[in-house]
Amino acid sequence: MTGGLVLDGVSAGYGAVQVLHNIDLTVAEGSITAVVGANGAGKTTLLRTITGQLRPSAGSIRIKDGRDLTRVPVEEMVRHGVALVPERRGVITELTVEENLRLGGLWRKDRRAADEVLAQMYELFEPLARRRKAAGHQLSGGERQMLALGRALMAAPENLLLDEPSLGLAPKVSAQILGMLRRLRDDTGLTVLLIEQNVRSALAVADHGVVLNLGRIVASRPAAELAEDTDLRHTYLGF
Ligand SMILES: Nc1ncnc2c1ncn2[C@@H]1O[C@H](COP(=O)(O)OP(=O)(O)OP(=O)(O)O)[C@@H](O)[C@H]1O
Ligand SMILES: [Mg+2]
Repeated sequence: MTGGLVLDGVSAGYGAVQVLHNIDLTVAEGSITAVVGANGAGKTTLLRTITGQLRPSAGSIRIKDGRDLTRVPVEEMVRHGVALVPERRGVITELTVEENLRLGGLWRKDRRAADEVLAQMYELFEPLARRRKAAGHQLSGGERQMLALGRALMAAPENLLLDEPSLGLAPKVSAQILGMLRRLRDDTGLTVLLIEQNVRSALAVADHGVVLNLGRIVASRPAAELAEDTDLRHTYLGF
């Protein structure tokens, strides 16, 4: 399996309300693509559509190797190497850190492989190793975000989608999380689609940047170029 996603003319919405309009987007294998845009631009809707929570009304979604994801339901995405870290984190607060992590690897039948990945997660996220018996509700915001990320990685995805991972985190912690994404890209070739309110940080860590406005892509360029485009920033991003 290889990472990378190709969206071709994707439209989607809720009932009669169309939110996404004809989205063409290629997420290059082994790269980080940041999607930025104002509140209500359709960023979360885009991730919901890619992960099969919403059925597109038009267009197709494929993995780089050609496999069609357009009609794959959300519960099967993990088998296609696509994992989501949802908005507001998706940690099960009643379960311990270790139980949450194991959930992410449950679809693997091979228990030993799951144990190995678990050990890797504790290496990657040291704070979690120290708190493996703690319940989700006892964690700090940063620890919880690490846990959500760790749980998604337990599935060994090729494509990792994140919806505002730094929401509510101190700048230092969010920098840590974003730095980790870069490390994963470099060390494992992970493909990342990152949604972030914090535009500066997102574009600093990303290879490619996409600006979404009212459900349409209005710019798609190398991240460094986007970050320097003051007109674009003023018009769509408000800074
Ligand atoms: N379940 C829903 N039913 C109907 N409309 C919805 C639903 N979820 C979102 N919308 C609408 O779709 C549009 C896009 O919402 P979406 O959550 O994708 O935006 P977003 O870019 O993620 O915003 P934010 O930055 O605030 O998270 C908004 O107008 C929103 O009101
Ligand atoms: Mg959102």
